[in-house]
Amino acid sequence: MISFLHSAAIHGINACLIDVEVDIASGLPIFSIVGLPDTAVKESRDRVVSAIKNSGFDFPTKKITVNLAPADIKKEGGIFDLPIALGILSSSGNIEPNAINKICAIGELSLDGKLRPVKGILPIVLSLEKFGINKIIVPEKNKYEASVAKNIEVYPFSELTEVVKFLKKEIKVVPFQQNTINNLNTEPINQIDFADIKGQFFAKRAAEVASSGGHNMIMIGPPGSGKTMIAKRIPTILPPMSFEESVETTKIWSVSGLMQTGESLVSQRPFRSPHHTTSSVALVGGGSYPKPGEVSLSHNGVLFLDELTEFKRDVLEVLRQPLEDKIVTVSRAKNTLTFPASFMLIASMNPCQCGHYGSSTKECTCNPYQVMKYRSKISGPLMDRIDIQVEVPALKIDEITSEKYTNIESSHDIKKRVVKARQIQYERFKGKNIYCNAQMGPKEIKKCCTLDDKAGMLLKNAIEKLGFSARAYDRILKVARTIADLESSDIISSTHIAEAIKYRSLDK
Ligand SMILES: Nc1ncnc2c1ncn2[C@@H]1O[C@H](COP(=O)(O)OP(=O)(O)O)[C@@H](O)[C@H]1O
Ligand SMILES: [Mg+2]
Ligand SMILES: [Zn+2]
Repeated sequence: MISFLHSAAIHGINACLIDVEVDIASGLPIFSIVGLPDTAVKESRDRVVSAIKNSGFDFPTKKITVNLAPADIKKEGGIFDLPIALGILSSSGNIEPNAINKICAIGELSLDGKLRPVKGILPIVLSLEKFGINKIIVPEKNKYEASVAKNIEVYPFSELTEVVKFLKKEIKVVPFQQNTINNLNTEPINQIDFADIKGQFFAKRAAEVASSGGHNMIMIGPPGSGKTMIAKRIPTILPPMSFEESVETTKIWSVSGLMQTGESLVSQRPFRSPHHTTSSVALVGGGSYPKPGEVSLSHNGVLFLDELTEFKRDVLEVLRQPLEDKIVTVSRAKNTLTFPASFMLIASMNPCQCGHYGSSTKECTCNPYQVMKYRSKISGPLMDRIDIQVEVPALKIDEITSEKYTNIESSHDIKKRVVKARQIQYERFKGKNIYCNAQMGPKEIKKCCTLDDKAGMLLKNAIEKLGFSARAYDRILKVARTIADLESSDIISSTHIAEAIKYRSLDK
């Protein structure tokens, strides 16, 4: 007898519907699965046989053929264990075919018949509606994420026997529901706060400006000055994620298997800090089942590259596409996948090899050629995409000890200003597919960055005297726009320009 049910496979950060057909016919006892790669077939077959037997059912000693269609979609095993087992139990007369032919089932089985969670739940449930399916059976631990899709009934189970009882109507199960929007709107309890950082007012202000306009930022300073501390606290002042942003980020985290049990959505902006030994594949994504890289895991959040000069040059080169296009394209033999990758790049570096160039407390032992060589490790095209360059000098002793440098502003206070400045930008660019000042192109810069006379003169002088490039000119205008937005000022004045010029410390 043939039975039929639905399952799903992950393709990039989306899901495709997979039809699972199971035929049991008389003949030699052979159990074959068509449509899965060879290694996955063997593993899945072994788990399904054991799980069915150990759940107290007879495993049919007949010719069993399982077809997972369409065959040309590349599938990872695991996820199909449950639908295959249910198909076999139905074809062997344990479950009515009508009880399963309109539902979707996913889940990996352990040898004793328990259901293990799988990756990519959110993309799967979100795609079901499109296919006209409104019921899904999921492993217990996947229920929170599955409940994000509002029009899908989610039936969570922890073992195969329970699923069978439910399908035979021997037990009643209420679909799992949860108000995910409410979860999202709760104010996060931050373990870390900008108030932890003593002194460094200039760098903290730069972080506020960067966060307000979505600008990429690099911090230059000796070891121990607080660069890493500042970077880690940037997500605490960024505006809350919208529901749509949260869903997009969650899809990426979900297919990467990073969602925690009990977590339905990624509700805080991500902060990722890959080590400098990271490979380009780990950074931008790839692999034989293409997986998102760090640039995508930090989508809608912060990608922090600590000790930027230590990264391999070819690794930094691959950052150019995502920085420019806000997506990454990963090519495989047969197909090309794209992953979203819209992040704020925050980087840090020492001013020179020994770390003390320009320091008033310790002497730098590098010669000018060494300093230049050290700095040239970061390519021009990458530096061109970083709007804010800020020096973070070593703390002076009174900054460490004096009370007046502690307990200053909290992240909560700074965030209020950031949110207000972002709101202005949101209104300014409405309908243009631009969300913040950092994303302005030449056309928007021309239209939105109106300088008063004094500001125009100051900028002209600075370009002549400090020798800024045309690129630096645009960056100064964008950052000045953000500084003006922080003061709710339509016109960019000379104080705004003067501050923006200070954030070009590597250009001088
Ligand atoms: N401005 C600061 N305020 C408070 N503590 C600081 C500050 N700067 C550095 N520290 C202390 O020094 C440690 C190292 O700081 P870190 O941010 O890692 O420096 P960097 O990244 O610049 O090398 C921190 O964990 C913190 O304890
Ligand atoms: Mg550091
Ligand atoms: Zn030095």
